[in-house]
Amino acid sequence: MKALPTAAALLRRRTHRPGGSSPGASLLLGRLFSMAPPPLSVESEENADYRLCHVADQRSALPEDGPPPPPPPRVAAEESPHRAMNVEWRVERAWEHWRRLGAPKLVVAPMVDNSELPFRMLCRKYGAEAAYTPMLHSRIFSENEKYRMTEFTTCKEDRPLFVQFCANDPDTLLQAARIVEGYCDYVDINLGCPQRIARRGNYGAFLMDNLPLVKSLVEKLAFNLRVPVSCKVRIFPRLEDTIAYAKMLEEAGCSLLAIHGRTRDEKDGRKFRADWAVIRAIKDSVKIPVLANGNIRHIEDVRECLEKTGADGVLSAESLLENPALFSGYRTGEWVEGLEEANNGGLDQADLAVEYLKLCAQYPVPWRMVRSHVHKMLGEWFRMHPHVREELNKQATLSFEWLHGLVGRLRETGARIPLYLATHSDAEESVRVGAAQDPR
Ligand SMILES: Cc1cc2nc3c(=O)[nH]c(=O)nc-3n(C[C@H](O)[C@H](O)[C@H](O)COP(=O)(O)O)c2cc1C
Repeated sequence: MKALPTAAALLRRRTHRPGGSSPGASLLLGRLFSMAPPPLSVESEENADYRLCHVADQRSALPEDGPPPPPPPRVAAEESPHRAMNVEWRVERAWEHWRRLGAPKLVVAPMVDNSELPFRMLCRKYGAEAAYTPMLHSRIFSENEKYRMTEFTTCKEDRPLFVQFCANDPDTLLQAARIVEGYCDYVDINLGCPQRIARRGNYGAFLMDNLPLVKSLVEKLAFNLRVPVSCKVRIFPRLEDTIAYAKMLEEAGCSLLAIHGRTRDEKDGRKFRADWAVIRAIKDSVKIPVLANGNIRHIEDVRECLEKTGADGVLSAESLLENPALFSGYRTGEWVEGLEEANNGGLDQADLAVEYLKLCAQYPVPWRMVRSHVHKMLGEWFRMHPHVREELNKQATLSFEWLHGLVGRLRETGARIPLYLATHSDAEESVRVGAAQDPR
């Protein structure tokens, strides 16, 4: 029998093909990527940002699995570079692309170890209209097959998709981006990671100190990729600096800007509120689509954020981890107080955890990601029954059977952690917010 090509071989081949992705290859890629996850190690669920970057750097020390994929022929030039340099024309193209995707308003934010394929699919089922991958390290991604295979998986239904990279070298970024461009709708540059590892690696929010480099990263992708480039940024302490930054990104060829309304030093999202007024000011200063990020905890926040910022959509991160059904109007008990009426929506966090586990069986990912989600989705229950959390922490090797058993044991305690819908129907609200409107 003829051996199947490896996923990386497929990826390499894809980079040779100038005519775009084939759906067949994409599906096969998804299946090939659905290989057994690597063995599990026990890790805390905290500080995921830091950990993955760290894992990524360790992986770079592994022997490489062959030479990096050769760059494909230059493919940007559907149109001449002169046209691509015309900002007005590019802005128009940016909106056309955004509309073609259905003008997605409800978006799963990039999360290291947490916005992986099964989680994205769960959020999509419950209202998310687009999603980001976790941040991928562009150099390691372009050099290391193992890293590509474990850290980036997708499937046909996983669209619209933003694939996010951190980078500080335009050629390396382009090389990584070309590998995924057939499988996504935007290649995103992480300009917002504030962690120490990003300072050491000189990427993420630390590139705010080197704007010419940021400009060259954006231009490199904008002129050489077939998919548009998007950027996710944090704000500067001074409004005028943030506005100048946003305009520079737009001029460099960024087609969509996601703004996390906190500065690089405001790392703790619980301590610092995101500044929606700054997002409004940026939205009013640039012409490309803008997504607002920060302070989205339930569907009413979405409505309010869109109204106050004028943004074209929102990203949510931490709150989705606890409640992946947020975008379809479900809210955790924490956000029910103060509502005139709310009803038990008939869904609880354990139901979502079980759905997530089933998706993981369908789309395997490293166990560290599964563990992290189980901790977050069942966090309330673990607070009531800390010994069950300890059992999970002690479990060096996980299996789906064991995890389903854990949920079963928690259910046997009789406790439920329901999700609620406001009686004037948060769900209706979510449909309204999510309904495609003319984005301009
Ligand atoms: C576990 C976790 C991992 C994250 N990883 C990334 C990442 O890979 N790339 C990125 O741009 N932001 C990352 N972030 C930041 C989020 O995308 C988002 O900007 C931030 O959490 C603010 O949104 P929120 O208030 O809805 O949580 C991460 C956040 C969390 C909680």
